[in-house]
Amino acid sequence: MSKETILVTGAGGQLGTKVKEAFEQNGTFNMVYTDVDDLDITMRPQVDAMLERHKPQIVINCSAYTAVDNAEKERDSALKTNQKGSLVLAEKCKKHSAFLIHISTDYVFDGEGFMPYEETHPTRPVNFYGQTKVLGEEAILQNYNEAVIIRTAWLYSEFGKNFVTTMLRLGAEREQLGVIDDQVGTPTYAGDLADAILAFAKNYVTSNSFKRGIYHFTNEGACSWYDFALKIQQLANNRVQINPIPTTDYPTPAKRPHYSILNKRKIKDQLQIEIPHWEESLIKCIELISARQ
Ligand SMILES: NC(=O)c1ccc[n+]([C@@H]2O[C@H](COP(=O)([O-])OP(=O)(O)OC[C@H]3O[C@@H](n4cnc5c(N)ncnc54)[C@H](OP(=O)(O)O)[C@@H]3O)[C@@H](O)[C@H]2O)c1
Repeated sequence: MSKETILVTGAGGQLGTKVKEAFEQNGTFNMVYTDVDDLDITMRPQVDAMLERHKPQIVINCSAYTAVDNAEKERDSALKTNQKGSLVLAEKCKKHSAFLIHISTDYVFDGEGFMPYEETHPTRPVNFYGQTKVLGEEAILQNYNEAVIIRTAWLYSEFGKNFVTTMLRLGAEREQLGVIDDQVGTPTYAGDLADAILAFAKNYVTSNSFKRGIYHFTNEGACSWYDFALKIQQLANNRVQINPIPTTDYPTPAKRPHYSILNKRKIKDQLQIEIPHWEESLIKCIELISARQ
């Protein structure tokens, strides 16, 4: 029996790399990995030709413009990839009957909440990147029903530049570090998100029983960036002193939401999955980083 084909965009990025690992290990699907050099999601003819050639049953969109602070200045680039790219994928997946799995962010919310955000909570981004991600979500929801949008937050992995790899580098270089303690959220290991994406793909080709639309996925638990930094340094045996600071002491071009905790009941119910606590996954990630050194 031939395997179903899945095409991944942005496969060289942080999430794309962990998606590749998870799907290779699983071995159920015929995988096609692409990145911006061979498949720019904003280019209609390219996307059309790629889907025509490979005829995937599922497209996983790991590509995005993700430079949150730069997006305040590079507005056209951010908008092009995150809005137009999402629209093109929705249109072409519809044309070629491919199910679309798209990734979005907690930055669609204003962070003024105090209860974990449900999928139906009104969006109100506080920065331009968040605006482009809302527009990307809308482009998909308005044009193609056969899709899920997974909002995630505080994503990290052993690859590339993220909070964990940056903290490990600074922790080894510095004696003291100031880290924000008045923004709370949930660190999310990209490997766990990749497993959730795999669970969607497996469900789609077997029982196909999940609802379409928006889902929230992060690890379990919650903390501030300060708590997260402390745990990273502790696990890495770094002696650096971490000092809690308010957001006002660390100004950035893009404003960040103060409260980013997402309610994950829907994804757990629909896919019957358990999600690891953020500390458990952080231990796993730091062990993997240490093993490579
Ligand atoms: N990182 C986080 O903390 C975080 C938090 C919440 C949600 N998310 C969402 O999670 C998803 C994955 O993020 P990530 O951290 O894996 O991002 P990433 O590491 O920046 O990866 C994005 C990938 O997309 C590629 N790309 C950029 N523009 C493209 C285009 N027009 N066509 C095709 N590929 C393009 C990038 O290539 P280049 O590197 O060459 O540009 C890169 O390989 C994104 O949707 C992001 O919005 C991330």
